[in-house]
This record gives sequence, structure tokens and C-alpha cells, in this order.
Amino acid sequence: MQFYEVLAQYYDQVFPLNKHLIDFCLKANHGQKVLDLGCATGELALALAGHGLQVSALDLDQQMIQIAKNKAATRQLAVEFQAADMTSALAQYPKDSFNLVSCFGNTLVHLLSEDTIKNLFSDIYNLLSIQGQFVGQLINYDNFPDKLPQLPLIETEDLVFQRSYQQVDHLLEFQGELTIKDTAACYQNSIKIMPLHSERLQELLQEAGFDNITLYNNCQLDSFSKDNLALYFQAQKT
Ligand SMILES: C[S@@+](CC[C@H](N)C(=O)[O-])C[C@H]1O[C@@H](n2cnc3c(N)ncnc32)[C@H](O)[C@@H]1O
Repeated sequence: MQFYEVLAQYYDQVFPLNKHLIDFCLKANHGQKVLDLGCATGELALALAGHGLQVSALDLDQQMIQIAKNKAATRQLAVEFQAADMTSALAQYPKDSFNLVSCFGNTLVHLLSEDTIKNLFSDIYNLLSIQGQFVGQLINYDNFPDKLPQLPLIETEDLVFQRSYQQVDHLLEFQGELTIKDTAACYQNSIKIMPLHSERLQELLQEAGFDNITLYNNCQLDSFSKDNLALYFQAQKT
């Protein structure tokens, strides 16, 4: 099995849904229609659908989406899950068709150029209705390249997940290693990501047209500080 097949299988154990994230989204949302980008196995999308919202969600990874679709069927929740690339798939939706767009879990830094992120932000802006909110979360790379953020080891009932960064020019190589406790099977992966700083994130959001941009340390809305490991944001189409 490949690294991502194993990660998909254990995803909800490795990254369980934080209940405060649901509250963050519900508080930001002022309508019915939500789009979750990089939804992985769909827990946030399903939780929001459970609160009566009409949710669409997409992820590049076919396996993650299959797991999400299976969960939707089992829980009898109508979420429109789709395996798709968010950099090209947003054209399928009409303008002004969502009240909330979310992109959590450091998904944005998988896009390797500022132009790609800026185009995505413009697409999201166009998809939102007036007063609509764009919410998301990244690792805070403000101390890159001087001090790379150290990611804590994740240990669950079934596995250990080690994560580290290596600097490669202006990008980071993210190395992940999953070890299954039962079998001691080890799966490794390395991908490039783009360390996006908080100031540049805010500028790119502004350039796409967003207002009322606020950064937080966590989804309980504590004010952002530059030495925090995570960066949550909220931006509005006014
Ligand atoms: C670390 S996971 C975060 C998932 C989830 N949002 C969360 O908070 O747990 C990042 C996800 O982004 C997806 N992804 C990466 N690039 C993508 C793209 N261009 N379009 C859609 N999904 C993408 C990956 O497949 C992966 O499931």
C-alpha cells in the first residue's frame, strides 16, 4: 500500500475533527450553502450537514472522497462529495452560490506558487455571496526560514506519525512517516509545500477583494501571535 492509501484509512484517527472548528464555521456562516475545499474524509462537511447546512466538498484524493461518500451514505447525510482539484474545479459552480467556503488543515500550502493561491482566492471570492465568509487554517510559517515550525509527533491507538520539514530553496519539503504499531509496517512520503507568511496571506486575500480579514491562533478565536504554530483566518466578501 502507498502512504496516502494508509493515511486515508487512518485519517480520522490521526486528525480527529475538533468540535471547536464546527463552532467556528457555524459562527462565521450566515446562510445555507457551504463549500469545503480539501475536505479529506469529509468529517467537517458531514458535521456541517448534520447542522442542516447544504454542503459541497471536494478533495484531490480519490480514496479520501470514497471514504467520505461511504460515511455520508451510512449517516444518511446529503453532502455532495467530489474528487477534484480545487485550482480548476471551482468554475463548475455559479457565481455567488456559497455563503461559506472553508479550507482547513494546511491545504492551501499544497499550492506551490502565490499566483496559484491568488487565482484560487479570486475564484472563492466570486463563488461567495455578499457577506459570505472564507475561513481556513495553515501552519504559521512566519519564522521560516530562520526557525522552521516543529510539528509534534502524532501517536494514536494504531500508529505513529512523524512529520518533519527540510528547506529546499524557497519551498519546504514535508516528510511524513507512518508506522503501524501492529505490523511495524512503515510508509514514507515527501512532498513540496509553499511556506506562506501571515502578512502575504493577508495581502493575497486583499488583492482578491476580501475585507474584514482576521487572523487567529486557534478556532476558539484567540488573537494571532507570530510565534504560534497554527494560523486560522476569516475573510469576508462585503
Ligand atoms: C492535511 S489534509 C487537510 C484535510 C482537512 N481539510 C482537515 O482539516 O483535516 C490536506 C488535504 O488537501 C488535499 N489537497 C491537496 N491539494 C489539493 C487540491 N489542489 N485540490 C483539492 N484538494 C487538495 C489533500 O488531498 C488532503 O486531503
